Amino acid sequence: MSEATTPRFRSVLDRFVAYKPGKVVVSPEGRSFKLSSNESPHGPLPSVVDAIAEAAENINRYPDNNATALTEAIAGFCGVPADHVAVGCGSVGMTQMLLEAVAEPGAEVVYAWRSFEAYPLLVALSGATSAQVALREETHDLAAMADAITDRTRLVFICNPNNPTGTAVRRAEIEAFLDRVPSDCLVVLDEAYREYVRDDEVPDGLTLYGDRPNLAILRTFSKAYGLAGLRIGFLVAHPLVAGAIRKTFLPFSVNSVAQAAGIASLAATDELLERVEGTVKERDRVRSALLADGWTVPPTEANFVWLRLGDRTMEFSAACDAQGVSVRPFAGEGARISIGAPEENDAFLAVAKSFPHRD
Ligand SMILES: Cc1ncc(COP(=O)(O)O)c(C=O)c1O
Repeated sequence: MSEATTPRFRSVLDRFVAYKPGKVVVSPEGRSFKLSSNESPHGPLPSVVDAIAEAAENINRYPDNNATALTEAIAGFCGVPADHVAVGCGSVGMTQMLLEAVAEPGAEVVYAWRSFEAYPLLVALSGATSAQVALREETHDLAAMADAITDRTRLVFICNPNNPTGTAVRRAEIEAFLDRVPSDCLVVLDEAYREYVRDDEVPDGLTLYGDRPNLAILRTFSKAYGLAGLRIGFLVAHPLVAGAIRKTFLPFSVNSVAQAAGIASLAATDELLERVEGTVKERDRVRSALLADGWTVPPTEANFVWLRLGDRTMEFSAACDAQGVSVRPFAGEGARISIGAPEENDAFLAVAKSFPHRD
């Protein structure tokens, strides 16, 4: 027998650090407020729980692999034909599907940095190379991103509003950028936080893709729709793009309970958007309180705020942990804090107030 060896893994895994989800902490008094994953602070609506319970009766059967009813409901909701829609296992699953469709060794993927942590991980796994373009004043620098596109660029992600800074790019800048992108390069507008946007100048991607066959709009049920635990994301694009992406779908990866919950959630959009309105009010209250307290906080169109703490990021995160408030720190850069229920936001503001931060 030959000498024992370990299985051979792809070399990309040698340097690879898997995705780290937002943590949960508990204070010595037993308090635990999770402001680290940009989730909805609200539990599911009764109508959604009913749909989930009903769907649970049939989980001995495989789900509809085409998610036909959900796709039609999304298409109706977005006012687009059903062949413009592709669904996936969360928008992070859709991101992987997109990369499987366009990325390969030698290809480049352009995106702003810092942005959503899953982009570099999934690009690396796809075998393509990341071309990261620094944010300017915490915002996408779309002119620099257009400059970074080469003939190897297959995909550009624009995260709007940007995770983790909350900043959003406006219609004129996006259109000027799109005009510069070669038509064989796909642009993905990741609008995971679209429902929280209140700046009228920030376009709804669905109004942009009509005459742009290389633009895809990415949305999720995880944030405003409160279904993070069920994993549904979707993409809207021209049929050629949506069809290519659908080919990369991991069979059955949007389960039947999720499909039913997605349909029920769309039917309850008005109720859910009322909740979003509450979060937006809280966001504005939290940002105003931080500004009044002397913090620098970029304008945010999402359900979180960003504090550029630099070297003090981990110290700040530890101070939050000690009070049972978990935030999302990026060591050496800053911390992202999700907007939760008023009591949770107050607990975070109390930590921020007592943390030495004025020069
Ligand atoms: C910008 C952005 N895109 C996509 C996602 C992924 O969301 P999900 O996979 O839950 O749909 C997130 C989640 O935090 C995000 O911030």
